[in-house]
Amino acid sequence: MKIAIGSDHGGFELKQAVMEHLTERGIEFKDFGCYDSKSCDYPDIAKPVAHAVADKEYDFGILICGTGIGISITANKIKGIRAALCSDCFSAEATRLHNDANILAMGGRVVGPGLALKIVDTFLDTPFSNEERHIRRINKIER
Ligand code: RB5
Repeated sequence: MKIAIGSDHGGFELKQAVMEHLTERGIEFKDFGCYDSKSCDYPDIAKPVAHAVADKEYDFGILICGTGIGISITANKIKGIRAALCSDCFSAEATRLHNDANILAMGGRVVGPGLALKIVDTFLDTPFSNEERHIRRINKIER
C-alpha cells in the first residue's frame, strides 16, 4: 500500500504523528509537504496529492489542515477523488465501505493525535464493500 500525505501549517504537527505511525506500521508514503509550520496555502498541497491519487500513483491520500475542510473541499474538485473529512472512526469505516473514499481528510485542530491515528488505521484497514448499491451511487457522483 502506498500513501500520499500532505498538510498545511494547521495540520503540520498531526501529519508528523501520522507519518511516524505509518512508518511504524511499515506503510510506504510520500510527504507532499508542507515541510515546516510556516503559514502556507492548503490548495497548494491538496491539489498535488489529489492528482497523484487520481492518477493511481498512490492507493490513498491523507490530507490534514486546521479543520480538514479547506483541504477536503479542494481535493474533491479533482475528478476521481472522493475525499472524506473524518473526526470519528465510525465515519472512517463507513466512508470506505460505502463511498470507497480514496482520501482521508482530518483537522489537526479538531482531533487529537490518539484519535487521529485510530481514524487512519480504520480508514486504511477497511475495504470497500463492493456492494452493487454502493457502486451504483458512486458512479452517479461523476456521471
Ligand atoms: C489555516 O489557518 C486554516 O484556515 C486551514 O488550516 C484550514 O482550516 C482551512 O480550511
